[in-house]
Amino acid sequence: MKIVVLTGSPHKEGTTDLLADKFIEGAESKGHEIYRFDAAFRNIHPCLGCDACGMSGPCVHKDDIENEAIQKLREADVIALVTPVYYFAFSAQLKTVIDRFYSRTYDINNKQSVLLAAAGSNTPLTMRSITKHYQTLAGYMHWQDRGMVLAAGCPTRDAIAKTNYPDEAFKLGQSL
Ligand SMILES: Cc1cc2nc3c(=O)[nH]c(=O)nc-3n(C[C@H](O)[C@H](O)[C@H](O)COP(=O)(O)O)c2cc1C
Repeated sequence: MKIVVLTGSPHKEGTTDLLADKFIEGAESKGHEIYRFDAAFRNIHPCLGCDACGMSGPCVHKDDIENEAIQKLREADVIALVTPVYYFAFSAQLKTVIDRFYSRTYDINNKQSVLLAAAGSNTPLTMRSITKHYQTLAGYMHWQDRGMVLAAGCPTRDAIAKTNYPDEAFKLGQSL
């Protein structure tokens, strides 16, 4: 299968970078083809809401999303969303890419998806909103959820490296 991994962290070697690496390792061990788009290190712009695309045409932005990621998303069988939890939500970097789905919403329907998220705290509220958002998005996009790795209580790479979450990410990739 073709798997698109969208990451949203500005930390080059942070907690979710480790989750992404492990997920990719697991998926590659099963022969899947990976395309990774690290939103924080790309030339990307937020949706202007101009509706020039009419939800199915080219976007007025000619950036790395329009010129590269969108085509990969259209071809993908699986979309992996990988993000630190920022104020109970996806990071702005990842949300910027998600909002740009708008220009090709109908072509990005009917996929499979996974969520890998990490957060510093570990309370009943830590993963509540981001999980609900992911599930609502998946429902709207007609994506079949293939699993979530919710690494609460992981403020740093050192912290997450001591947990089972990287292994969970590997197994999720391997399970596809
Ligand atoms: C702007 C910002 C907002 C954050 N919001 C939350 C939050 O709502 N809940 C939480 O538990 N941790 C929060 N954190 C902590 C990060 O989610 C956590 O450190 C995560 O492991 C960072 O992942 P990364 O290294 O992949 O960027 C926040 C961090 C930043 C910088």
